[in-house]
Amino acid sequence: EKGILSPTSSSPPSSVVLTQDELKKIAAYKAVEYVESGMVLGLGTGSTAKHAVARIGELLRQGKLSNIVGIPTSKMTHEQALSCGIPLSDLDSHPVLDLAIDGADEVDPFLNLVKGRGGSLLREKMVEGACKKFVVIVDDSKLVEHIGGSGLAMPVEIVPFCWKFTAQRLQSLFADSGCVAKLRNFPASDQPFLTDNGNYIVDLYFKKDMGDLKAASDAILRLAGVVEHGMFLDMATTVIVAGELGVTVKNK
Ligand code: 5RP
Repeated sequence: EKGILSPTSSSPPSSVVLTQDELKKIAAYKAVEYVESGMVLGLGTGSTAKHAVARIGELLRQGKLSNIVGIPTSKMTHEQALSCGIPLSDLDSHPVLDLAIDGADEVDPFLNLVKGRGGSLLREKMVEGACKKFVVIVDDSKLVEHIGGSGLAMPVEIVPFCWKFTAQRLQSLFADSGCVAKLRNFPASDQPFLTDNGNYIVDLYFKKDMGDLKAASDAILRLAGVVEHGMFLDMATTVIVAGELGVTVKNK
């Protein structure tokens, strides 16, 4: 039977097969152990972060946490946090946060990340870049040797104006890595996906890894038309990884 393990357990017995969602929940609950009353918290976006948001709401309702202020990284998380009873604010009022908890799409051995397959990379980067501590929560399928080298999307948020021009320039930047740039659509639709900021997302797919990450980041950000990319370099302070054999905590 699946799911018989308590999500607060940190060492699942190897005979229990956990779903990916149960592993996400275990990582999220572990991260919420870092939350203390009085903190200003960055609230991440996605199917892993939503477990952390729900848990924070639960602890507030139980009176085990108090005086929490949440800064959501997307409209979706804003809605969820409100429904969980978490008091919310923004970066204008709280430019320095104590802690942020969020998922990731890829994590390399140096704790560099790819984020944004859920489309919230800009607000995530703004909020998580303003945190004293950034705890990333993943199941072990997200671990990679080189970010951007998995053949999966590396998202870039761009302005809609002449998006084909910007997509072409992004693709040309990484021609040596066999890069293909594709405009993201809403699921099962031919309409361009719109971010919370009214922008488009171009997903970059690499045949070979993109080489020096800092150089790649700088080159992308130099292109007019680009708003932000999904490489989160040197930002995570802790990564919590849940796998069948238990939870691993990696610190920077
Ligand atoms: C959204 C993100 C998410 O954190 C990332 O896509 C991971 O999502 P999930 O927890 O659903 O696997 O960056 O922009």
